[in-house]
Amino acid sequence: MTSPAAVEAMLDRERALFIQRNPASEALAEKAARHWLGGVPMMWMSDWGTPFQLFIAKAEGITLTDADGNSYKDFCLGDTGAMFGHSPAPVAEALARQGARGLTTMLASLDAAVVGDLLSDRFGLPVWQVTATASDANRSVIRWCRALTGRAKILVFNGCYHGAVDDAFVTLDDGRTVSDPGLIGEVRDLAATTRVVEFNDVAALQAALAPGDVACVLAEPVMTNVGMVLPDEGFHQALREATRATGTLLVIDETHCMSSGPGGYARAHGLDPDIMVLGKPIAGGIPAAVYGFSAAIAARAGDYLKVKPPGHSGIGTTLSGSAIQLAMMRVMLETYFTADNFARLDTLAERLETGIAAAIARRQIDWHVVRVGARVEFMCCPMRPRNGGQAARLIHRPIDQAVHHYMLNRGLLVTPFHNMLLIAPDTTAGDVDRLVATLEACMGELVGRD
Ligand SMILES: Cc1ncc(COP(=O)(O)O)c(C=O)c1O
Repeated sequence: MTSPAAVEAMLDRERALFIQRNPASEALAEKAARHWLGGVPMMWMSDWGTPFQLFIAKAEGITLTDADGNSYKDFCLGDTGAMFGHSPAPVAEALARQGARGLTTMLASLDAAVVGDLLSDRFGLPVWQVTATASDANRSVIRWCRALTGRAKILVFNGCYHGAVDDAFVTLDDGRTVSDPGLIGEVRDLAATTRVVEFNDVAALQAALAPGDVACVLAEPVMTNVGMVLPDEGFHQALREATRATGTLLVIDETHCMSSGPGGYARAHGLDPDIMVLGKPIAGGIPAAVYGFSAAIAARAGDYLKVKPPGHSGIGTTLSGSAIQLAMMRVMLETYFTADNFARLDTLAERLETGIAAAIARRQIDWHVVRVGARVEFMCCPMRPRNGGQAARLIHRPIDQAVHHYMLNRGLLVTPFHNMLLIAPDTTAGDVDRLVATLEACMGELVGRD
């Protein structure tokens, strides 16, 4: 067992050490505070919980160097945006090549046909569209689902995150759907058009879909934004059956779970979504995402467009589908979304998972570890949560903060908000073993058995 006193002592000491190690970042944080809201170009950058933000001078492969010259092995990888490493040579070369030939024209580039073929080949759906981010893709998909079904409501799982997608910011409060209390400037009651149920609760799902008024279920195949919640055996089959039975479209958001293999989680596990969303690393770290339609949905969308009245569709943005996005997607799909690449990532991720599991057993600490392909998550609690409600009560605690600071001060970057670790092509067995050994030393201190 870990004691609150041990956690507090570690956090205090590690915060002091962070301040001592990072004088240049501290000075930059002071200067940046002059003109950035919250001192950072994007508010989440201050959510790491450190005494001030780290400023990064360089990111190469999986190595980050900060303003003070400290070096880190990066297991966060931009929270998946740089899942295949920071500016690896094929990415840097494609960026330079296309950079010299024009970035955006509002016309299709020469890569368009090839990238369409690659998306279809890798992920198994025949018809695609490009957006600027996964948030945009999810927003567009929700509109399409409403248009194609003529239904207003959508359903999401409690504790989900699908990006800056207004409709999905709801939570279960004592069995009722309510808007997320943290939303800035939301004036609508989102519960009017969104239902939320717990992941893995088939009976609640069936009941919520039974009225036949839900346009789509928007779901990650594994919940990855509230720690990690795995689907129960048979859950995805039940989800597919319940959506089919009620004429509800099934949207699988693979933005994180595409760590499962070259065709994402859906291909690896034989899911059969109507629509799929892929984002973050799909263009190597520049803003881009895609959504794909099954043949049946593509046909319905085609019919819809034939009768759509003139005027703005509310779908699409100026910089989407650009030459630079397509060039980057092409290199990512050709180079990294391959069976060989994922086989290597999987082997190392398994080494990481089993290494952490063995350390947990040796230190007799009440934690656990789970994995989805190249994505590993350790949670500082003994039991795997079965749904987002349970998981939300187990993350964002001082113990996570203490562990993050401990690892950061020893040159290892763990994703903030929870404890996610990603393997990239440049990650080595030595990097994995170093992370496991450091985490085990941290566990030892927390349980008082060094
Ligand atoms: C499952 C999932 N979908 C969509 C998004 C949104 O991605 P972006 O912030 O790149 O728009 C995220 C972001 O974390 C995500 O985790």
